[in-house]
Amino acid sequence: MNEVRISDLVQPHIRKLEAYTPGHQPSGEEWIKLNTNENPYPPSPKVTEAIQELAGSTLRLYPDPTSSRLREAVAALHSLDSNQVIIGNGSDDILNLLIRAFGGVGGAVGLSFPSYSLYPVLVGIENGKTEVIEFQREMALPIEQIKNCSSGLFLLTSPNAPTGVGFGNEKIEKILKIHSGLLVVDEAYVDFAHESAIDLLRRYPRLVITRTFSKSYSLAGIRVGYALASPETIGFLDRVRDSYNVSRLSQTAALAAIEDQTYFQSTVGKIKETRNKYQVKFQEKDWFVYPSQTNFFFLEPKNVKGEANEEVAKSLFDYLYSHKILVRHFGSHVLTSSFLRITVGTESEMQILNEVLNSWQTTV
Ligand SMILES: Cc1ncc(COP(=O)(O)O)c(C=O)c1O
Repeated sequence: MNEVRISDLVQPHIRKLEAYTPGHQPSGEEWIKLNTNENPYPPSPKVTEAIQELAGSTLRLYPDPTSSRLREAVAALHSLDSNQVIIGNGSDDILNLLIRAFGGVGGAVGLSFPSYSLYPVLVGIENGKTEVIEFQREMALPIEQIKNCSSGLFLLTSPNAPTGVGFGNEKIEKILKIHSGLLVVDEAYVDFAHESAIDLLRRYPRLVITRTFSKSYSLAGIRVGYALASPETIGFLDRVRDSYNVSRLSQTAALAAIEDQTYFQSTVGKIKETRNKYQVKFQEKDWFVYPSQTNFFFLEPKNVKGEANEEVAKSLFDYLYSHKILVRHFGSHVLTSSFLRITVGTESEMQILNEVLNSWQTTV
């Protein structure tokens, strides 16, 4: 019998699929890591205590399949009912469930560009199509274009990534009025923003909000996210999730984090303060930076000649890398290629970053 190639056995759409490229996770401690929007502060000490108290012997048992205690805590935090909450293995899991359950109705999944680059990959995994609506450079929400989008599911990131620009509820409500599909507002960074769309949930059952513990709660390593939506939407998402999608350890850690709101408020406050300070410092260099409502900047560096373009951004990326500072560059598109996305670190990390930025300016 002829040897069958594995690539002939894989589904054709998976053969063509380009996987998501996560930001680099270096193993050494010596890096200043500002490339994946993690929180620079550790999680609440209550999280460590709760994990330590988790009796090792309980790990032989499966976790609560519906993460019920955590669901109730999330619901209480947002003054919702627990049947309006679903917990996931990171918000990536939730986004996956949304696309699995609702993607493709109307022909495609609607997205804006730039936004979270995982969305098209998740659509690709389901063999779906995307309908992409591009922002203009000023990053105003293209409401009229979204109106004409035929998709039954539209994914909007607010505040947006990688730009950091937030969209007010007035704009989001306009979309809900003119677009007849499910509108997902990915609020991964909302704890650093002015406004959340949660208030709109009561009036718009077609709204879904996704959230994560990875950024503001400093728990990227534990992988917990959630969605807030109508009980009916949650019911459909529940049908398509893995039965034990959130580990015992993760449920315990996230619950402890949510219960320590004092710690949460203080770290989020520190990050916002640092962000606001360095937003001004970057502007003082006469570099363009979008007004950030997140824990990162989308910054367009200029060389001494005052030029800003992909080559300049790439040269700064390499310079920072050579100084053990990791940031993110999204090449290949004019809306992103002249920029670097830089996570807000601790005050001392930001000071070092700023010094290195200043020294780079004298070299180019
Ligand atoms: C816009 C956006 N949504 C969702 C996520 C994923 O979050 P999680 O760690 O909960 O999967 C990220 C992570 O960077 C993100 O930037």
